[in-house]
Amino acid sequence: MRILVFGSLNIDHTYRVSHLVRAGETLASDGYQKSEGGKGLNQAVALAKAGMDVYMAGAIGPDGTFLLDALRAANVNTDLVKTLHCATGHAMIQVDEDGANSIILHSGANEQITLSMIDETLSHFAAGDWVLLQNEIAHVDEIIVRAKQRGLTVALNPSPASANIRLWRLELVDLLILNEVEGKDLTGESEPADIISSIHVRYSKRCKILLTLGAQGAIYVDENGALIERALPVTPVDTTAAGDTFTGYFIAQYARDKNVRAALRCATVASALTIQRQGASRSIPDQREVIEAMHKIEA
Ligand code: RIB
Repeated sequence: MRILVFGSLNIDHTYRVSHLVRAGETLASDGYQKSEGGKGLNQAVALAKAGMDVYMAGAIGPDGTFLLDALRAANVNTDLVKTLHCATGHAMIQVDEDGANSIILHSGANEQITLSMIDETLSHFAAGDWVLLQNEIAHVDEIIVRAKQRGLTVALNPSPASANIRLWRLELVDLLILNEVEGKDLTGESEPADIISSIHVRYSKRCKILLTLGAQGAIYVDENGALIERALPVTPVDTTAAGDTFTGYFIAQYARDKNVRAALRCATVASALTIQRQGASRSIPDQREVIEAMHKIEA
């Protein structure tokens, strides 16, 4: 099985700060790092580190070639990433002393995805393959529709949340992975059970839902019922890419043997490792580290 990640590639500018900057405040940072990021790139790296056959599609500018190097180093196929005559997308990330972050995005090349690029990319894939999408590139709604027409399994992480997602054809999505904030934006509901039932009523009962709840863990719901996985008690250094790691590891493990409990456990351990390190894609653990950590927890 192959998985196409059609998503964002960003240059992350990360600033360590004593606290997240307030309105009107100028704040000196305690550290700075430029690194590879973007929810698409991070999730592609997580999937590949978890052992999947991963293809990245998206767009960068000439300033973003180091992003391709990072993807290739993680064994992600980058043949479908286009280099355009514009700036690569970037993110300005503040990380405070508790590891919490806030992010400003500039979409750059990520917004230059065209319908013909989508068709060309999808022509390399067929039934049996998966596509994983986020909300940081243009025309995600069209990718959902066209991928489904080709018979692909569609997984969507509608992050970051935005009002337009309500207009997408979410009834075509097979697996929806979202957090409480995205769930509230999509449904207007705050309680996990209400978010899940509202998605089922509005869109499709067929859609499998994985709702992440931060320090409270995660809930997975499909036609067989619900499974709850607790988060691990760890002290965060930097929570950037925790959700991306969770998404990548969950899908990789789930696609392998459809064992939801094992996939939830694996994703939980992997993202707990990510938040104990600085950075986005660079903080994502490889499979060996995740297996070792799982053995330690079970011992
Ligand atoms: O999920 C983390 C990512 O969000 C960062 O790498 C940043 O680029 C933004 O897309």
